[in-house]
Amino acid sequence: MKLEELERSAVDAFAVAEDIAALERAKAVFLGKSGLLTARLKGLAGLPPEERRAQGMVVNRVKDQIEHALELRREALKKSALEAQLLTEALDVSLPGRGRSVGGVHPVSRTLDRIESLFRTLGFEVAEGPEIETDFHNFTALNTPADHPARSMHDTFYIQGEPDLLLRTHTSPIQVRYMLAHVERFQALISRGEPIPDIRIIAPGRVYRVDSDATHSPMFHQVEGLWIGEQVSFANLKGILSDFLRCFFEKPQLRTRFRPSFFPFTEPSAEIDMSCVFCDGEGCRVCSHSGWLEIAGSGMVHPHVLGQCGIDAERYVGFAFGMGPDRLAMLRYGVSDLRLFFEGDLRFLSQFH
Ligand code: PHE
Repeated sequence: MKLEELERSAVDAFAVAEDIAALERAKAVFLGKSGLLTARLKGLAGLPPEERRAQGMVVNRVKDQIEHALELRREALKKSALEAQLLTEALDVSLPGRGRSVGGVHPVSRTLDRIESLFRTLGFEVAEGPEIETDFHNFTALNTPADHPARSMHDTFYIQGEPDLLLRTHTSPIQVRYMLAHVERFQALISRGEPIPDIRIIAPGRVYRVDSDATHSPMFHQVEGLWIGEQVSFANLKGILSDFLRCFFEKPQLRTRFRPSFFPFTEPSAEIDMSCVFCDGEGCRVCSHSGWLEIAGSGMVHPHVLGQCGIDAERYVGFAFGMGPDRLAMLRYGVSDLRLFFEGDLRFLSQFH
């Protein structure tokens, strides 16, 4: 075959290659190791020097032409492959974006924020404590020694191999921690017999009990309240809690009721009920037709508790209460199953954003 023919047949072969793979195969026929043009190049070695030079120039020019044709075809094939891909994977930039969902505050956190801000207006400070507590802070210092029957009221999660540690069953140990720290902070005043500042805290947090159904979760929240001073009375407890509930539910006509109860760490003790926020006390399904909803435990702090924390029970008195913010959130938002708050289902949670 003449060189010009070789060149033409190479260009023709490239032109009919329909894709890159076919083009590579055609290239091999001419430029491959045992390709037609490669054979010509190899053949140059056998020629006498002058002829080799002249012939070499011709063969190499043909080689350049073939390579150029190959490159052009390769570019053309790539371009049409890209165009085909763009057609099949068409992107409609005029479609609305998927957007990025913005998170929101959890309804229970919202409720805690609301409780905190209402109590802050009354001069209460927010205190916290650990969720893994010692037996001493959770029970003993709260007038509940090891053999006390009241311990069985709490279905406690203990920690294996750590007999002194447990998951706190209530937020009351925060009272103990705060009082101990307060006494230490004001030791100088105490040793001079001077009065120490009032303790006025609320302490929100997670608590744990072995319990689980539509209205009980093994993890739930409490908010503890504590006011200790020289002149704090049960009347203050009633006033503050009643006002708080009216503000929280935005219902000036809301009524409260204090029922005698028992807690080892308060004496006297009272269960606080409020008139049902759904029927205003008429009786409905939510309040089991009683007109009342249980909302908190409370009482005057037991002298033994003050004593355990180094506070002079002859001089100081005070009240404490513990309420369930999960319950308050359920009532405020009209949610009937507590578990919905803790399942993390965004279809439920995003309704509160
Ligand atoms: N700690 C009690 C409970 O979890 C509630 C409470 C707090 C009662 C403070 C009285 C005073 O049941």
